[in-house]
Amino acid sequence: MDWEELGAMVVACTRCAISQTRSRTVFGVGDRQADWMVIGEAPGAEEDRQGEPFVGKAGQLLTNMLLAIGMRRETVYIANVLKCRPPNNRDPKPDEVSNCRGYLERQIELVNPALILVVGRIAAQNLLQTDAPLARLRGREHRAPLTGTPVVVTYHPAYLLRQPADKRKAWQDLLFAREITDRRRV
Ligand code: URA
Repeated sequence: MDWEELGAMVVACTRCAISQTRSRTVFGVGDRQADWMVIGEAPGAEEDRQGEPFVGKAGQLLTNMLLAIGMRRETVYIANVLKCRPPNNRDPKPDEVSNCRGYLERQIELVNPALILVVGRIAAQNLLQTDAPLARLRGREHRAPLTGTPVVVTYHPAYLLRQPADKRKAWQDLLFAREITDRRRV
């Protein structure tokens, strides 16, 4: 499946009940040949309105976090585990994650990034298929199933908006991620 076919499938998808309550699907955005791919959980209200991931308050913080390590938002590829907004921003249900998994897996294959930065526990647990808490997932290099792409886990920017004291630790995570991609270039 190429980008066009994949995009068309997502726009038309009705596998989950939440397809009935979405305003728009939120496919993904950015450089399709990016070195870095950022993966979040699911669209929120603003993303559902605009059809683009991470455009609300948390998205602005994500954009700034990337800039802090010298990466403009346009130079990465950003997507979510779910392409539709769960009502009231509830956690994704397991059947929703499994219905949507193939779309994200194909996006990862097509971008073929050098690194995946996963933001937040929900996205990390779903992508890496683990129950481990975020504290155990941070600070280590994981591998994405199927592609074996290096994965680094950090806090969700929405969490950091509530707990700004943890931004320092998120900064460490970003430096760790950059170390991994820098290492691959030499
Ligand atoms: N939170 C996410 O995980 N993804 C978005 O696109 C927006 C907020």
